[in-house]
Amino acid sequence: MAKQGDLDAFKGNAAVEEIVDASKKVKVGIIGTGWIAEAHVMEYQKMPDVEIVAMADLIPGKAEAFAEKMGVENVRFYPSDKALVDAEKDLDAVSICTYNRQHAPCAIYALEHGLNVLLEKPMCVTLDEAVEIVKAEKKSGKVLSIGFQPRLDPNMQMIKKIVESGELGQIYYIQTGGGRRKGIPTPFGTSFIEDKTAGLGALGDIGCYSLDMVLNAIGYPKPLTVSGYKSAFFGKNPETFTSKGYPAEYAELFNVDDFAAAFVRLEGGIILDFRIAWDMHLDTPGDTIIMGTKGSLRVPSTECWNGSIGGPMKIYHDVAGKGVETEIPMLDSLPEGLFYHKLRSFVNAAKSGGKAPVPSSEIIYNQAILDGIVRSNAAGREVEINIPEI
Ligand SMILES: NC(=O)c1ccc[n+]([C@@H]2O[C@H](COP(=O)([O-])OP(=O)(O)OC[C@H]3O[C@@H](n4cnc5c(N)ncnc54)[C@H](O)[C@@H]3O)[C@@H](O)[C@H]2O)c1
Repeated sequence: MAKQGDLDAFKGNAAVEEIVDASKKVKVGIIGTGWIAEAHVMEYQKMPDVEIVAMADLIPGKAEAFAEKMGVENVRFYPSDKALVDAEKDLDAVSICTYNRQHAPCAIYALEHGLNVLLEKPMCVTLDEAVEIVKAEKKSGKVLSIGFQPRLDPNMQMIKKIVESGELGQIYYIQTGGGRRKGIPTPFGTSFIEDKTAGLGALGDIGCYSLDMVLNAIGYPKPLTVSGYKSAFFGKNPETFTSKGYPAEYAELFNVDDFAAAFVRLEGGIILDFRIAWDMHLDTPGDTIIMGTKGSLRVPSTECWNGSIGGPMKIYHDVAGKGVETEIPMLDSLPEGLFYHKLRSFVNAAKSGGKAPVPSSEIIYNQAILDGIVRSNAAGREVEINIPEI
């Protein structure tokens, strides 16, 4: 299992050998130079047709130090996303690597200024923000892709292929989610645990991946209603942090979810039963199961944020009237690493004006569920999900 803050999790184990047309470089800006920006820069540096020309961070000196650490030269620095977008007249695209609360303002500003946008996950914090992002995207005609690299993994793609093959029949129930036994992410400070920066806790950090794994597999049906719950028993306990050598004050600053669960009704009569944990007294809150009228699929409990599954998947079905289990052999992950392919597919789409590899038309449903869980928890009852036509 990759450690928190371990960038090796994103590195492939093979050199990249793709041949690309490098006669015209795609000029990229990096907005937010924290931890995940390292993975973006590392992969862009492998691409002969990409030039990183600018970087921005709100913290004075951070972008400069980041560029030096990553060995990026001839780059211009800015104190905010807006300053970068306003000044860089020749830019083609930006990677938005800010904390969640800044996803929507940064994405909207960049799209309004005619830039292609690779936006880190979660798409944003609320459904209203997601709607505004999609409006800006539609107006701009540019490529907006959301940073869900796990769906590029061959095992994750196999889940979708199995569903699409019809082997499971009509899908009627899904259980998914996951979590960490002790995994509230604070190695780089408090940007994941404070509402003013993160907006969402486990839901936005890892819950959105579990949702994407199954919703992508079944073709992203529209969510209709949600009954959601969230809590923060571990994040509010100083021992959670002191036991790992972090300040006890983190517990006072903690004001997002560390656990969430939901019962979601999807179009097509499908029920989605979901739970996610950043911290819990349990090894795993369960496997992912996709139940259908002809067969059901079990995906052993996953670290779905990095595309891995916990063991071979099994299809349970009847053959000649007998209950049979078919084991699906595990597939090797992509040798160049998922992050390389996430960025490469975005750059290819930006160059060709093609379809976004991870489109907002799908991820807005993911965001609507996160938003619904928060609203339902506040209301103490099931709520409807209404997504306006954009
Ligand atoms: N795809 C993945 O596997 C993956 C992994 C980790 C994090 N993430 C996502 O990446 C995002 C960033 O995570 P992180 O760990 O790098 O966070 P971080 O807090 O380490 O870095 C975010 C940086 O953005 C800067 N920033 C915020 N608003 C800005 C603005 N308007 N202009 C310029 N800079 C701004 C902050 O000052 C900070 O330095 C989060 O949304 C997270 O969910 C994705």
